[in-house]
Amino acid sequence: MRRVKVTVVGAGNVGGSIAQRLAEKNWYDVVLVDIVEGMPQGKALDLLEAGPVCSYDSLVTGTNHYEETKDSDIVVITSGIPRRPGMSRDELLETNTRIVSSVVRETAHRSPQAIFILVSNPLDAMTFVAHKVSGFPKHRVLGMAGVLDSARFRAFIAEALQISVENIHAMVLGGHGDSMVPLIRYTTVAGRPLHEWLSPEKLDALIKRTREGGAEIVNLLKTGSAYYAPAASVVEMVEAITKDQKKILPCAALCEGEYGYHNLFLGVPVKLGVGGAEAIIEYALTDQEKSALDASAKAVKDLCAQVEDMLKKAS
Ligand code: LAC
Repeated sequence: MRRVKVTVVGAGNVGGSIAQRLAEKNWYDVVLVDIVEGMPQGKALDLLEAGPVCSYDSLVTGTNHYEETKDSDIVVITSGIPRRPGMSRDELLETNTRIVSSVVRETAHRSPQAIFILVSNPLDAMTFVAHKVSGFPKHRVLGMAGVLDSARFRAFIAEALQISVENIHAMVLGGHGDSMVPLIRYTTVAGRPLHEWLSPEKLDALIKRTREGGAEIVNLLKTGSAYYAPAASVVEMVEAITKDQKKILPCAALCEGEYGYHNLFLGVPVKLGVGGAEAIIEYALTDQEKSALDASAKAVKDLCAQVEDMLKKAS
């Protein structure tokens, strides 16, 4: 049986953790790519050597070149610089646009049928870059952020209520930035709406912590950003796609009329299956929720306009 081939570009903490989680599923062959000589090879070999102990036969390859990525089913892009304390994700725009466009150029023609999952920040704008540079159809270009932001929200709710994370369903929509929109009305604990469990003050505090969840980790780590939860979130998306689960997860996807947005990558509920983003699910929003989403969409739109200028200048 041919295993599903996943290329992970960027073999730092996020890329390495994704490779480990995928290898442990025993269903994926992973190609880890990085420009740093020896590093992807070293991590890949280390993961290969863990196989006998963890009972997996997954092939893990590390490389500084793109030839080995040929005919991947999924390409995950984690390349780029991470935030340091005090930085916003948006400050990474210029450098990461350059890096992500070059990675997309290298990978797209070698794996013309692949599905792209972007992880680099600022996330929604980098997903836009990948779509633009690859020329791939919209259903094959996705960004990972909503799963992570929703996971953080769920973890904080579980902690506050002392109830299992498994009982908590949450949807965080919008851009992966300070204006992301945790949808309270669609967040439930064992099927009961969240506002019946927590006071408005407590809820506001959890929303704030979720919005600042990435920065909380950056401030603690001091030398980089989160990786365990981002990696786990990518793997949930990869599994939903490759196992054709038809799972609805919040992801950055191209809206063409959905939620009233046009030509905009934004975090929305997406049905993931073997075709990639098979459908965007529209929730009815109150005026207040819609204006919060509009504010987030505006922030993403502004970034994408800057990206568009950069790409034009570079071409
Ligand atoms: C975070 C970074 C990865 O939210 O965007 O942790």
